[in-house]
Amino acid sequence: MKEIQRFTLADLTLPMKTLYSGYLLVIGLGLLFAGAQIMLTHGMADGKVGLSVDDIVYSYYGNRTEGSKLVSKLNGSMKDNAPPEIRMAMIKWADAGGPQDQWEERISMDVEQYCSPCHANMPGLTDISDRITMDKMIQVDEGQSMSNLTRVSHIHLFGISFIFFFVGWIFSYATGISQLNKAIIISVPFLFLIVDVLSWWLTKWNPNFAWFVIIGGFGYSVAASIMIFTSLYQMWILPRRSKPHDPTPQ
Ligand code: HEC
Repeated sequence: MKEIQRFTLADLTLPMKTLYSGYLLVIGLGLLFAGAQIMLTHGMADGKVGLSVDDIVYSYYGNRTEGSKLVSKLNGSMKDNAPPEIRMAMIKWADAGGPQDQWEERISMDVEQYCSPCHANMPGLTDISDRITMDKMIQVDEGQSMSNLTRVSHIHLFGISFIFFFVGWIFSYATGISQLNKAIIISVPFLFLIVDVLSWWLTKWNPNFAWFVIIGGFGYSVAASIMIFTSLYQMWILPRRSKPHDPTPQ
């Protein structure tokens, strides 16, 4: 296929260069902030600084292994507050999702006897003899809710494809890179965008997919950096290096 390139980034008029560069710089800054935001929100999800696979797992899959608050307390600081068989019964009840019949038959009595002396009387302590309050204590952290994931997924797909449409458009006028390589670099962010969003859903289902979230995010950061830096370089630095009206060689 014969490569015909009508104009290059280096020959753009000053106003067009300004327009393209303004856009690329703002998008570049935006991507940096997006990275910082991911570090600050997801990055701390496992309680440690820095983004790790655990963070992604906690954010999307949740913390299902530790179970509910009630179970983790009964295995932790509340361990000595009830005899072992009472504790076990409470843990089983919570793991079963807190059935109402068992609550009425037995659990509420145990709570009354072993927990309420503190929990219904000491000010500031959660009153777990109240069923509605107890329901909050037996909820398991299942990560992002479906409705939230759906919302974030479509915003992410629409918004980010717009960003990469224009970044790719500008980059398509770069010189010195074969058409095939350009096409590959331009396609990468779109492919990884799909990998990224799909992997959120897959991670919600199976925590091992957390790796794909990281690979996806990394993939389009690299592709975006290549496109932004190459375009800026060819608009502002390259023209001074080549002869003024050099018919651009490929
Ligand atoms: C001697 C007083 C005392 C008794 C008895 C007691 N607790 Fe607690 N409980 C506390 C205190 C103090 C805290 C807050 C500190 C902490 O989380 O360890 C707490 C916290 C909790 C929490 C976390 C509440 C929240 O809002 O984060 C749960 C759940 C809990 N206890 C369950 C129980 C259960 C179930 C029993 C009965 C088997 C029980 N506790 C008996 C004093 C008590």
